[in-house]
Amino acid sequence: MASEKFEKPTGTQDILPGAVEKWQFIEEKARDLCRRYNYREIRTPIFEQTELFERGVGETTDIVEKEMYTFKDKGDRSMTLRPEGTAGVVRAYVQNKLYGEPDVTKLFYMGPMFRYERPQAGRYRQFHQFGVEVFGTTDPAIDAEVIALGYSFYKELGLSGVKAEINSVGTPEVRAAYRSTLLAFLEPMRDNLCSDCQSRMERNPLRVLDCKKDQEKFVNAPSILDSLDEECSTHFDKVKGYLDAMGIEYEINPRLVRGLDYYTHTAFEFKAQGIGAIDTVGGGGRFNGLVDQIGGPEQPGIGFGIGLERIQLILEHQGINLTSAKPLDVYLVALGEAAEQKLTKLIYELRSHGVAADRDYLGRKMKAQMKSADRLHARYTAILGDDELERGEIALKSMETGEQRTVKLDSLVQEFVKTSH
Ligand code: HAM
Repeated sequence: MASEKFEKPTGTQDILPGAVEKWQFIEEKARDLCRRYNYREIRTPIFEQTELFERGVGETTDIVEKEMYTFKDKGDRSMTLRPEGTAGVVRAYVQNKLYGEPDVTKLFYMGPMFRYERPQAGRYRQFHQFGVEVFGTTDPAIDAEVIALGYSFYKELGLSGVKAEINSVGTPEVRAAYRSTLLAFLEPMRDNLCSDCQSRMERNPLRVLDCKKDQEKFVNAPSILDSLDEECSTHFDKVKGYLDAMGIEYEINPRLVRGLDYYTHTAFEFKAQGIGAIDTVGGGGRFNGLVDQIGGPEQPGIGFGIGLERIQLILEHQGINLTSAKPLDVYLVALGEAAEQKLTKLIYELRSHGVAADRDYLGRKMKAQMKSADRLHARYTAILGDDELERGEIALKSMETGEQRTVKLDSLVQEFVKTSH
């Protein structure tokens, strides 16, 4: 009886050899940028107590209401696969008392996040984010630094047309006042709005402005920027000033409201052109009340999350081919039993000295082995027959030029250590 075949869960991806090198390139770029900006890596659990996200991300957000992978563990505790990175990093910051350090805490992370969404191009149920979070300062220069870091990430990967959109969503007090002004504007058109907008009007009116369907109805909506108090305006002006000074391309979008509840002051998104409906490739902002809200001291924070699948999507659209697999330094071929013995030792030595080496394990003829070396883009093949073995030599062939020479077995490792520098 044939057994049933398994398939990956909807909205997830297998990242296969060939594609995985692109991911590694992107991840290395993120690490290198963080090194230059002096952000240090933090790794937090993939799952956390459900309540952390309810309180952190916000109970009325789409994420918490509809998208979380929540389960009971065997101790009957409600756990959730992290839908985003900020809440967990804030929890770790508080639990490990990182706020006790004398300097501003600058952290980054990379890893999978989980949201039960409707999958489509650029939208998955398991996706990956590169994120940063900074704690301990309200200086607007750090807002600009965080935006600059995200912006440089896109730039240095060679992506074009990615722009930052920025807004200020003020303090909770500012938002409460703006909420009333906005509701006064929306009320007369309530019946003409889509059902999503109508329900958002009740629960989270600022999110109404985010509706794709009803966009044109909000052209004359009041701007939150007009509701900002002096402190918020000054902060926002300074952020803009620093971005100008760095020559970062940005647009002010007073309707930018993020889908998570914790934002205060600066909110921003990175938008890409020409990749279809899902054009937000990253987003973030300040979260000055969040640390306190999840049980820590009053410490301001700011950060972003960048979707790595969406980076892949733009790369594809823009025809950018990052890297291919790293070629093999040498493919070793043994002819005969004694040579085989020797080859096992040689390949171990080569690899121990940092040389990328491989060999045949299928008992194939020499010709098939040479083809294999070709497919693996080996720079050299090294052929060891009984005659060579007796003379203590090995034949080394450059796959690029076809040139062949004989080297002493004793100096083979040296030969490669020399050429790979
Ligand atoms: P977010 O806007 O929910 O923010 O997500 C950030 C980015 O993650 C999005 O712009 C997108 O690129 C990617 N993303 C989100 N959902 C999916 C999905 N289903 N499939 C593929 N990619 C997706 C946050 O998560 C905040 N934690 C960002 C932040 C950090 N704010 C402050 N600090």
